[in-house]
This record gives sequence, C-alpha cells and structure tokens, in this order.
Amino acid sequence: MEEARRRAASASTLEDVEALRTALLGRKSGKLSQIMAGLAKLPPSERAAFGKRANEAKAEIEASLSQAQGRLQDAALEGDLTRRFDVTLEGVRPHTGSLHILRRTLDEIAAFFRSRGFAIVTGPEVETEFYAFEAMNIPADHPARENMDTFYLPPGTLLRPHTSPVQMRAMQSYPPPIAVLAPGKAYRRDALDASHSFVFHQIEGLHVDRGVTFGHLKGFAADLTRHLMGKQRRTRFRPSYFPFTEPSAEIDLSCAVCDGAGCRVCKGSGWLEMGGCGMVHPNVLRLAGYDPEEFTGWAWGLGLERIAMLRHGIDDIRLFIENDPGFTEQFA
Ligand code: DAH
Repeated sequence: MEEARRRAASASTLEDVEALRTALLGRKSGKLSQIMAGLAKLPPSERAAFGKRANEAKAEIEASLSQAQGRLQDAALEGDLTRRFDVTLEGVRPHTGSLHILRRTLDEIAAFFRSRGFAIVTGPEVETEFYAFEAMNIPADHPARENMDTFYLPPGTLLRPHTSPVQMRAMQSYPPPIAVLAPGKAYRRDALDASHSFVFHQIEGLHVDRGVTFGHLKGFAADLTRHLMGKQRRTRFRPSYFPFTEPSAEIDLSCAVCDGAGCRVCKGSGWLEMGGCGMVHPNVLRLAGYDPEEFTGWAWGLGLERIAMLRHGIDDIRLFIENDPGFTEQFA
C-alpha cells in the first residue's frame, strides 16, 4: 500500500500513472487481481474480512492515482499557459469609439449656456410648413421661402430648413421670460461642397424678457466666442435681413484657417459666417402669445459645423459626415 502511494506520488507523466494503474488494478495481471485470486483458497470465515480489506486497498490506490493524475494535468495546463502567452507583451488594444467632434462642440456650448440659466430644448426635424415659415413671419408668398431650398414631404410637412421653428414651439410652451438653446439638424437642397451640406446643425438661441436689447445679444455672442475660440478671434456684426427678426444681423468670425488672410474656406474674405441673429420680430412674439410692448428678445441661429471648423481649422464640411476614422480619431 505504502509503495503504491509512493509510486503514484513520484509519477512524472500521465503515462506513468496509467502504467501504474494497470500494474496495480489491471484485471488480468494487476497486483490486486492476483491478491484477490487467493481469496478462494482462504477458509470461508476469513473471506469477508479479506474482501473488505482488499476493497479498501483498491479505493485507496484509486485515490492516490487520481490525485497524481490531477497534479500532472494541472502542471501540464500551467506549462501550456506560460508557453502560449507572454504576459509581458503589450496587449492588443480594443478599438473604442468616441464622441463625434460635433457632439463635443455642442456639449461645450450647451454647458456654457446652461451655466447661464438657459434651458436646452428640441423640436421635430419633420416640421410643419406652419412652424417652419408662417410662425417665423414668412408668409406663403414671401421670397425668403425660395432661399431656403427646402426638402418638401407630403403636403403640409417638410424637413426643417432651420431650427428657428423651435423658438415658436418653446414660446408657446413656456410663458415669458424665456432663455433657451435649441440645437438640432437642419436640411437644405444644397449641392455638397467644402462649405455646404444638405444636412447640418444649427444652434438656435432665444432670450426674451423685459428690457432685453441688442446689446445683450452682442454680449452673449462675444462671450461665447471668447469661451470657444480664445481671445484672439474677432467677431463682427453685419447688417442683414431675416423675416423673423428686426433689426437683423449676421455674426462673422475671423477665419481660423488663414487667420484673416483669405483662403478656400472663407472664400478669400478672411471672415466666416457663424450664423444669423437679431431682435425677435414683434409679429413672432405676438403669435407666441407674448406681448411685444412688454417683452423683447434676441435670437440667433448659429451653424455648429461652422463653429467646429473655425475652432479646429477643418477646411471641409464633408469630413463631418464621411466618418473617416482617421478624421474622427483626431478629436478623440
Ligand atoms: N434661421 C436662419 C437661417 O437658417 C438663421 C437665423 C437668423 C436664426 C436669425 C435666428 C435669427 O434665430 O434670429 O438662415
């Protein structure tokens, strides 16, 4: 017994263990079988005790053998693992996604305005003609409709060509005063080139209260520019026209690609348009149920792509929608 245990413990391969199993427990010539063969020669009174002892011995041998087998299998696995994996090698990094640069830019702008008490609101991309145009003081025969190059859907609806309708939806939902930012997609039947896309993002801003002036608008625009672009970028206001504001202006930013010298992006002017703005037209306030005698407000519609392009020196709007990992990863 002692010998069997010792031999099992010293077996160095799984084959040794199997050989030992055959030698000890094998049916024909195994040690135990030979011993059991002597059973018949014993007097009947001794057979039961002998048989019991033999069975115990068999169980003990089996236990020793399977212990040896377990030990050798563990060692083999350990060997495999250390042979196949060099744990000191650098691992293969899984490819992780990241937020799109437009999303990051928007999040920053939204955080800035949230900290100033603005709420973020949204409206539908499939809009009614009423909200896209009439509610924005653009009646059916108004030439401004022509300029919008709108994608029309089944009668009465369209893909909104601007986010301005969200102004009206917000004012109809909340009584004055109101301060909201409405980011979202806008669609136009524009041919794709370096600075035009059929889908782009606008950030509509609206602040209506007693005593709000154009000065507040300029202040917010300057603050936002400084916050996003740094102090070296200049802003300018150009008189313009929008049916839903009076007076109206265009907000320009000095071109970050050429720093004002003139390039493909700014079409040689040194300035890039960030968006339109103005003081909310009394007709719009009235339609929203706000009293234009009591309340005034500023509104703007900034181009999110424009802001990201200006900020990062991106010279082609198409890069935002092409999803080339080489482009998107630069901002991760
Ligand atoms: N909706 C205008 C456009 O898409 C941009 C705009 C101009 C929005 C003036 C405004 C605004 O809120 O006051 O061209």
